Order: sequence, then structure tokens, then C-alpha cells
Amino acid sequence: MTQLPVNGCQILTLPVRSDERGSLVALEAGAPLPFELKRAYYIFGTPAGAERGFHAHRALIQCAMCLAGACTITVDDGSERADVRLDTPGKALEIGAMVWHEMRDFTPDAVLLLVADAPYDECDYVRDYDEFLRLARS
Ligand code: TYD
Repeated sequence: MTQLPVNGCQILTLPVRSDERGSLVALEAGAPLPFELKRAYYIFGTPAGAERGFHAHRALIQCAMCLAGACTITVDDGSERADVRLDTPGKALEIGAMVWHEMRDFTPDAVLLLVADAPYDECDYVRDYDEFLRLARS
């Protein structure tokens, strides 16, 4: 586990079980996930140059990992910013509550899996960066 300078964000090294048949990663609440999984969604078929995210969540905690290909996620807590390249299925990025995040530089084959601790709720989104800064600094 590597703590990032951005509050609520860390890089998790997932336990990869490899043998002559290939590799397997299991995601369970508690370990390696730091929360109870309530939702999973994945992003794929991302065209060259496309960028996603550009929001924060008031309460949601998520972990992101690239199951195939690679992408970069920028995380920002209102004072610190970091870029994390997800380029192996054994690496996950925890994105805490009130972390602005942007996803870019997807390879054409990228499949980005996100697991979250709550169901989808549009009210949990902060989509305006200035509002995010106001909330993050208050
Ligand atoms: P959007 O928030 O724009 O994706 P991103 O954060 O990657 O830019 O979501 C795209 C659409 O999918 C939007 O209509 C909301 C919907 N959606 C769900 O229905 N459930 C979910 O869990 C997520 C993440 C999105």
C-alpha cells in the first residue's frame, strides 16, 4: 500500500495468484478492498483522446483498476494533485470521498473496473470544480 500526497488516496497492490494456468485476483471486503463492495462498473471502448470523470463524490469511496490496457487517473483533494498510471491488473487506486478525479490517456484496449461502497446516486456527485474547491476547503 502506497499513500499518495492526496488525502484519501492510496495505491493498493492486489494479491495476484499466478500459476501455469494464468493469474487470478480476488476482491473481498476488508482485504484487499478497504470497504464493503456495493457496486461495480467498468469503462471500455474509450476512443483516443477521450477523458472521463471530472467530478468528486461527497461520500463515495471507490477503487479503480485496469483489467486490460492502461489509463491515467488524476486525483486532487483541493490542495494536492497526483497522476497515477494504472497499467497492470495487480494495481488499484483507492479514491476517497471528496477527491476530484479525471481519467485520461486510455489505451484502445483499456478496461477500467471501478468498485464502490454505495449504489449509484447522482446527489453524491460534485461536478463543478469551483464548488468542489469551496467544499474541500471548508
Ligand atoms: P458518467 O458519470 O458520465 O461517467 P464518468 O464518471 O466515467 O465520466 O456516467 C455515464 C452514464 O452512466 C451517466 O448517464 C450515469 C450512468 N451511470 C450509472 O447509471 N450507474 C453508475 O454506477 C455510473 C458510474 C454511471
